[in-house]
Amino acid sequence: MSNNNTAERNRFEGGVPRHIAIVMDGNGRWARARFMPRHAGHRAGVSSVRKVVETAGELGVEVLTLFAFSSENWDRPAEEVSVLMDLLLRTLQKESARLHEHNVRIRLIGERSRLSLRLRQEIAAAEELTASNTGLTLVIAASFGGRWDLLQAARQVAEDVQSGLLSADELDEQRFSGYLSLGGLPDPDLLIRTGGEQRVSNFLLWHLAYAELHFVNTLWPDFGAEELKAAVENFGGRKRRFGRTEEQAERLSRA
Ligand code: FPP
Repeated sequence: MSNNNTAERNRFEGGVPRHIAIVMDGNGRWARARFMPRHAGHRAGVSSVRKVVETAGELGVEVLTLFAFSSENWDRPAEEVSVLMDLLLRTLQKESARLHEHNVRIRLIGERSRLSLRLRQEIAAAEELTASNTGLTLVIAASFGGRWDLLQAARQVAEDVQSGLLSADELDEQRFSGYLSLGGLPDPDLLIRTGGEQRVSNFLLWHLAYAELHFVNTLWPDFGAEELKAAVENFGGRKRRFGRTEEQAERLSRA
């Protein structure tokens, strides 16, 4: 093994997160700084998506969740909403086959009924094509909000209790999380937010309970392989305690 490879491996010896979630912020400011329209920033953001998906796969990350469009983004000017929806559609059309070749499993979380029929069909096709892949799971959060997710789960729980499928005292954290959109996937270990803001913005409210938070000033179109690796390296140096004492947490991590 070359020195370079060894150095790269040592860089991540603190551990690689199983699940990384990213709030991709700063496309508009990136464009404005270049006297370009906002949509140029979103287009440039798709190149960062490509780099980050590739690098996450190389690092052995199991799940990568990208916040592509929030429930609140529907309130942006109609033209920008339409550009973002179009980008999502075109990116899926263009990239699904390549992602499939790379063994990536695609999954979408969010309020699908608000998406266009064409986009819903493209999503269903991409999910079906890649359903049995065993590499990186790429979760695209579109028309997604953490509060929407909790509400739709609560509604389903109520229906199941009403129809006798579930009794209220059987409901525990594990069962409840099965009703949420990410059901079955591990919680994010690391949340990255680009663009300098330090907030969760109604992303995965339930699942981020114990995530390590990594905020960077880099605008999303400038975020690439090296920035992702730096975030993972930083994660490797964090001491995760999950509410326990430091001694307990160390004993657990050695077990
Ligand atoms: C936030 O930047 C970014 C978004 C609302 C959209 C992110 C979408 C993409 C990168 C493209 C599509 C994604 C996929 C997965 C194909 P902003 O507009 O809020 O930037 P600002 O804060 O600088 O105005």
